[in-house]
Amino acid sequence: MPIGIGLLGLGTVGAGVAEILLSPQGRHPLVADLELRQVAVRDLNRPRPIPLSNSLLTTDPAAVVANPDVDLVVEVMGGLEPARSLILAAIEAGKAVVTANKAVIARHGAEIAAAAAEKGVYVLMEAAVGGGIPILEPLKQSLGANRIERVSGIINGTTNYILTRMSEEGASYGDVLADAQALGYAEADPAADVEGGDAADKIAILTGLAFGGLVDREAIPTEGINTLQTRDIDYAKELGFVVKLLAIAERHGSDPDGSEVVDVRVHPTLVPKEHPLAGVNGVNNAIVVEGEPVGRVMFYGPGAGAGPTASAVVADILNIAAIRQVGAGGSQDALDPLLAASSWRNCRLVDQGSTCHRNYVRFQAADRPGVIGHIGSCFGSAGVSLQSIVQFETEGSGAEIVVVTHAVEESLFQQALSAILQRPEVEDVRCCLRTL
Ligand code: NAP
Ligand code: HSE
Repeated sequence: MPIGIGLLGLGTVGAGVAEILLSPQGRHPLVADLELRQVAVRDLNRPRPIPLSNSLLTTDPAAVVANPDVDLVVEVMGGLEPARSLILAAIEAGKAVVTANKAVIARHGAEIAAAAAEKGVYVLMEAAVGGGIPILEPLKQSLGANRIERVSGIINGTTNYILTRMSEEGASYGDVLADAQALGYAEADPAADVEGGDAADKIAILTGLAFGGLVDREAIPTEGINTLQTRDIDYAKELGFVVKLLAIAERHGSDPDGSEVVDVRVHPTLVPKEHPLAGVNGVNNAIVVEGEPVGRVMFYGPGAGAGPTASAVVADILNIAAIRQVGAGGSQDALDPLLAASSWRNCRLVDQGSTCHRNYVRFQAADRPGVIGHIGSCFGSAGVSLQSIVQFETEGSGAEIVVVTHAVEESLFQQALSAILQRPEVEDVRCCLRTL
């Protein structure tokens, strides 16, 4: 029996979804059962890359949700509102929802999941993380037997594209960002990409699935690539590293009440050249999941763009279509608990002071004998062991001294930096990055 699809948005992702729905030949036969019944856009006169009858278009997304011919609502319009309210309205009307909107899910996931559970409808979101890479469904299902220790990787295509081209071609940040926007990789407001917010939304969603409980999205320590300087990318290269924007969620123990304590963060990171994530370039994403007993598995592929994202959206639609096909009378009262994936324990974010990391730090200092020695002994006195300390040649006066530490507790590292900044020959810390 055909399933009526209502599409909220016909931009990069929406057009990709419509293209698949309108060309079912050669795909799984269930695709032919998916009928595009109505599409909401903001501007009816905007030229569209696909041949769609004007009678399908409306500027009223609420009308699509309420349309009795629409069985399943696909939200690919983006933004927090009205997207959140429309998703909730669809659930209230008993309609399944597929969304690519990580911003809404990371912030309002609990409210949406509760409403969906009450109504017995699925809300699926594979496209929200990793673009075309299947990662949410594997975490819910294929890796369900594991105790997950760590989920980490490159989960923003725009920033990976920018960093790759800056590092390989010496291209300018502004030019490459404009290219990423033209290619449909960037968010409507690209600040979400370059400031790390999009990756933070995605790691919040991954954390919820991997560790079984939601964390406070707004409390995730987040740093983007917008303040990164080309000289640090170059120095990192000379030291044998590639700079990548990583998102990391790792187990940090548990509280006496059984709550899981997790270290979740997003920041530019120096990745050793021989590490598998160092070779993930362009718009590609890669997510490494470490668990017991599976060990380490890596998911790799295109992390943004129309085709890859639409592939994930339509896979979710097909999952729901398949369940409806075998369900008694299409009733979805009994949700598959793995696919619906509700939270099953409390999670909280760790206090960052107690976490351990390797660090890269660049000091601006006077070019005088003994400066490197003084910096080294301040680190030593705080119990921070160093992997390397190098002075880079600079034009003009002063010296740039770059230190790479071994893994150290954050509070000790900060103590060492404070002591170094007290020294008259040290002007400033110009850059501080984490190192894998
Ligand atoms: P987009 O190109 O900006 O498209 C947004 C679409 O929604 C447009 O068709 C727009 O209409 C429509 N729209 C926005 N607000 C509306 C409103 N109030 N009423 C009616 N229509 C409205 O965005 P996108 O790149 O496709 O992204 C859509 C969602 O997918 C976002 O949540 C994004 O984070 C997520 N996502 C994107 C990608 C990617 O690679 N682009 C990948 C994964 C997830 P007009 O066309 O008339 O302006
Ligand atoms: N703007 C996002 C990115 C789209 O570049 O990764 C995919 O979620």
